[in-house]
Amino acid sequence: MCIRLAPESRFRCAPYPSYEGETMAKKKSQFVCRSCGYETSGWMGKCPSCQEYNTFDEVVEVKSAPSDAKPALRAGWIAERGVSKLSEVSKENEPRFSSGIAELDRILGGGFVEGSMTLVGGDPGIGKSTLLMQVSGTVRTDGEILYVSGEESKSQIKMRADRLGVKRSSIVLCSQTSFEHISELISERHPGLCIIDSIQTLYSEEISSAPGSVSQTREVTAGLLRIAKSLNVPIVLVGHVTKDGAIAGPRIIEHMVDTVLYFEGDGSSSLRMLRATKNRFGSTGELAFFEMTQKGLAGVENASALLLSGRPHMAPGSVITSVVEGSRAVLLEIQALMSPSSYANPQRMTQGLDKGRVSMLLAVLESKCKVGISNMDAYINVVGGMRIDETACDLAVLCAVFSSISSKALRENTMVIGEVGLTGELRPVSDLEKRLADASRLGFTSCVLPGASKSAASRLPVKMDFIYVDKLSEAIDVLFS
Ligand code: TYD
Ligand code: MG
Repeated sequence: MCIRLAPESRFRCAPYPSYEGETMAKKKSQFVCRSCGYETSGWMGKCPSCQEYNTFDEVVEVKSAPSDAKPALRAGWIAERGVSKLSEVSKENEPRFSSGIAELDRILGGGFVEGSMTLVGGDPGIGKSTLLMQVSGTVRTDGEILYVSGEESKSQIKMRADRLGVKRSSIVLCSQTSFEHISELISERHPGLCIIDSIQTLYSEEISSAPGSVSQTREVTAGLLRIAKSLNVPIVLVGHVTKDGAIAGPRIIEHMVDTVLYFEGDGSSSLRMLRATKNRFGSTGELAFFEMTQKGLAGVENASALLLSGRPHMAPGSVITSVVEGSRAVLLEIQALMSPSSYANPQRMTQGLDKGRVSMLLAVLESKCKVGISNMDAYINVVGGMRIDETACDLAVLCAVFSSISSKALRENTMVIGEVGLTGELRPVSDLEKRLADASRLGFTSCVLPGASKSAASRLPVKMDFIYVDKLSEAIDVLFS
């Protein structure tokens, strides 16, 4: 662990003539990548792990750290010695309290847990501060809400609160970046919820490096974690993201906190998604939907309608599919644009989809349907800024690609669901009922499905025509001939 020597170590007496390495802890220099946390013993210009340039910070480590530098031991919450039988360990009730925002509670697993630490990440301007100010107004706690901002002045925060209609008298504001001051404040006031905007702006006076550097961020997070656990104060941190969308600073921050929430969404639409990528007190599959309005973020019950609003009518390159996120399914549009390439290596640009998976799907389309793609640039986008990891949208991606190449729009009011295998076969998908629940209400009259989903689909009480296909080439024939 990082870093300093305990002040009293200067006065420790050596029992026999000493040399530095014996009485004082051994110092060791390490260089840590600010972007991904990669560690090395020498400075490097380019990180071999994340390929970023000029991201290495020096971190001085002490080999035999003094006891006060070992947060876990000091806090005592995981430092019990001895063992217990699993069956005899009493299940402590995690006392939860609602954030007052239903969509947020859903991804938190029912609300904030006492003494937990939550990290909220996302692009600049996506709505992190807005959401947390709204939470300050609605959270169901009797205690004070301590809102610490290292980025904005009190009057700026007040202006936002006024705009959002937050008037709660138990909110106390603090514009502060010193970790020592903030930790004193938390110990004195013992708030019901503490919000810190943002972790990268805080600095500890005991560490010489700049705010936002690896050692500062790491130590300040560890210090706050100590406070959260020992005083049982729930803390919410805002984290900046790098240009790849990861939380800036070493990955270790994500390991330390209990819950990590990421905002998704693109600047052009008002839809915002909040995803729990880590949750020690709940599931991680869930996605919360919000709309950015004049009065802040409003929870969205029916995200499909919002995701499909404004979609082009009968436009080549646009296909509607359905993806399942946690306990809900949403309909969304996949768009593809294929254009002749002027590069030796044609471009494969994707937004919201895995580039490797899309390249593989393009290869399947090329080889199984005899479509020339190798000299074309491919731009594929999930409209609304959502990230999809599901394979059930494979067929929709390839239909959008084919539609763009052939300049033919898909049949009207038709949606497409199915996973594509390497031999061009279509594989069944799960949760059909959920996927199709919204479809007929939003005007869809037919759906192309893998043949293997026939028995599941035929039992559904949905008023739609199902077109079953077993192969990618059959699907292309049915939809575009
Ligand atoms: P903000 O929460 O400051 O973003 P972050 O903290 O993630 O950087 O949100 C800023 C954006 O939200 C800004 O572009 C204005 C917009 N906004 C609204 O549309 N309505 C509102 O009520 C508020 C407070 C902000
Ligand atoms: Mg902000």
